[in-house]
Amino acid sequence: MNEEVSTHTAAEDARNDDILIYVNGDIVHRREAKVSVYDSGFMLGDGIWEGLRLYNGRWAFLDEHIDRLFEASRAIDLDLQMTREEVIAALEATRKANQMETDVHARLMFTRGIKKKPFQHPALSVSGPTLVIICEHSKPAIARPMKLATVPHMRGLPMTQDPKLNSHSKLNCILACIAAEKAGADEALMLDVNGFVNTTNACNFFIVRKNEVWTSTGDYCMNGITRQKVIHVCRQLNIPVYEKNFSLVETYGADEAFLTGTFGAQTPVSEIDGRRIGEDYPGPITSRIREGYYQLVKGAQ
Ligand SMILES: Cc1ncc(COP(=O)(O)O)c(C=O)c1O
Repeated sequence: MNEEVSTHTAAEDARNDDILIYVNGDIVHRREAKVSVYDSGFMLGDGIWEGLRLYNGRWAFLDEHIDRLFEASRAIDLDLQMTREEVIAALEATRKANQMETDVHARLMFTRGIKKKPFQHPALSVSGPTLVIICEHSKPAIARPMKLATVPHMRGLPMTQDPKLNSHSKLNCILACIAAEKAGADEALMLDVNGFVNTTNACNFFIVRKNEVWTSTGDYCMNGITRQKVIHVCRQLNIPVYEKNFSLVETYGADEAFLTGTFGAQTPVSEIDGRRIGEDYPGPITSRIREGYYQLVKGAQ
């Protein structure tokens, strides 16, 4: 597998060898940070998570991340047994214990907790939720623009496993990623159930055509916070932006394409299914959006 280049490639940082991790109220060296083999997250992928980024001492778009976390907890009927303020306090305690100030990525994970038997029923999860927070020193170091390949794995309908849930069960996306790598690409471009271009296995997807920015309708994909911010930035900059259905024909013919996510912000795409997209990376519209996005991050501080 190509581990070198992905949308989550970060610069190696030796400080991460000794980070402290939050596990259910304790903050311990990563060597000691463990959950039970009976944990619902380990056993069944029964959990939800958020990926957050710290810039200059502030978590970017923290309210939106906490909103999405609590929305997901209601959707999976998991009582987090913590208030918003307590979750934020745990995140901050982890950051402070690690003396982290900027270029930090946090993965905040709640699972349904420890089960008394190794079976699926939620009532068997008896301990109350497990909360783990990993904060790593993390600077995106994506050496080149991404190559995408379309794959047979689809973004499903909301009544199967709603793609809006940031759940621990990521197998559909992982299988898509594996298929893309086997086709020589870095990440999978996934279609929706009607064959329209939707999203990638780990990021939201945008194209630029004749100075217009297009992304999917928002059905079948993660309600990405970066996606929303990009739409907002386009409106601020008077760049026409549309959430609409579009096909591979329009995608292969795009002038620019880029991915969005909390980690990489806006990551340029240079190739889709062997077709070259664009000439400069990031392209001119992607560059303007990226600049606007960082202004937004700064403004939130
Ligand atoms: C499938 C998928 N799409 C997109 C995103 C990007 O979302 P955000 O911009 O909120 O980081 C994520 C990240 O959680 C994801 O898992």
